[in-house]
Amino acid sequence: MPTAVSLFSGCGGSDAGIIRVGFDVLMANDILPYARDVYLANHAETDYRLGDVASIDTFPSAELLVGCYPCQGFSQGGVRKPDNKINKLYLEFARALTQVKPKSFIVENVSGMVRKNFLHLLEDQIKVFSEVGYRVRAEVLNAADFGVAQERRRIFIVGLREDLGLDYQFPTPTHGPDRGHPYCNIQQAIGDLPEWPEGEFYARKFHWYYLSRDRRRDWGKLSKTIVANPRHMPLHPMSPPLHKLEHNVWRFAYEGRARRFSYREAARLQGFGDLVFPDTKAGSLDMRYTVVGNAVPPPLFEAVARALPDVWD
Ligand SMILES: C[S@@+](CC[C@H](N)C(=O)[O-])C[C@H]1O[C@@H](n2cnc3c(N)ncnc32)[C@H](O)[C@@H]1O
Repeated sequence: MPTAVSLFSGCGGSDAGIIRVGFDVLMANDILPYARDVYLANHAETDYRLGDVASIDTFPSAELLVGCYPCQGFSQGGVRKPDNKINKLYLEFARALTQVKPKSFIVENVSGMVRKNFLHLLEDQIKVFSEVGYRVRAEVLNAADFGVAQERRRIFIVGLREDLGLDYQFPTPTHGPDRGHPYCNIQQAIGDLPEWPEGEFYARKFHWYYLSRDRRRDWGKLSKTIVANPRHMPLHPMSPPLHKLEHNVWRFAYEGRARRFSYREAARLQGFGDLVFPDTKAGSLDMRYTVVGNAVPPPLFEAVARALPDVWD
């Protein structure tokens, strides 16, 4: 089995993807206690180190390094601060890369990084990783194109160690019109789950900001992006449709029961299957949504890892 080390591992979306490819994840790390709890409830065999990545002095040697450092600084929804300290966490990834020198690495981040005012940060990451000794490629991929029932565009940065003499080729989309398979829709992903899972969804009222755009998609469609903030979680299709009243003002077409996706449905729509959510002290409702919304859809990460050349011993 080829080996991997994972940083910024969260509840294990990226790692579930590489485990499906056949990697043995030797070590994972995150600062969030509930991310660790969920990860270990699903992959008990991994050595999960809880804490700030900066406090890890030595990383095990491995053939693949993966890391999805946080993205608040670039995210479409959050306040964009290009020079926020959180945007420097890629230097921690570069520190691990320099030490481990794996044959390959994979990084995922929000696609907002390709916007003009953040491009310098992306370019800096590519430069730093190239200087460590990697041929680096970056591309924005949509999870829907790889069988996930959700529109989720993310940037992937993949490196192959210089001495391998190879360039990485991103995978070709497998799902969607004129491809091998149709898109996977909301019905297929969550249609078998209970209609009103009391206690498993964020039930506060829909405030003006929530109703400033269309938050609902029908059963036969792809889901809107699953986010980490439960307040902004898209509507379940059992909810009445939203109609536009005026610019940035939407209203339910008729009175009826309406709710956001539950955290369990969000995990399915991220392509996790039935993720185990342990009832630990850190496992508040909000935190369940946070770890799921932060995750990389496993099938998308799997597709990127499967496209790596076979350079493993
Ligand atoms: C985009 S999420 C990663 C999601 C994960 N790859 C997955 O697929 O589930 C970024 C993660 O970085 C973690 N993080 C932020 N700052 C950190 C730090 N200083 N040390 C370790 N982890 C950190 C966050 O808690 C969050 O879980």
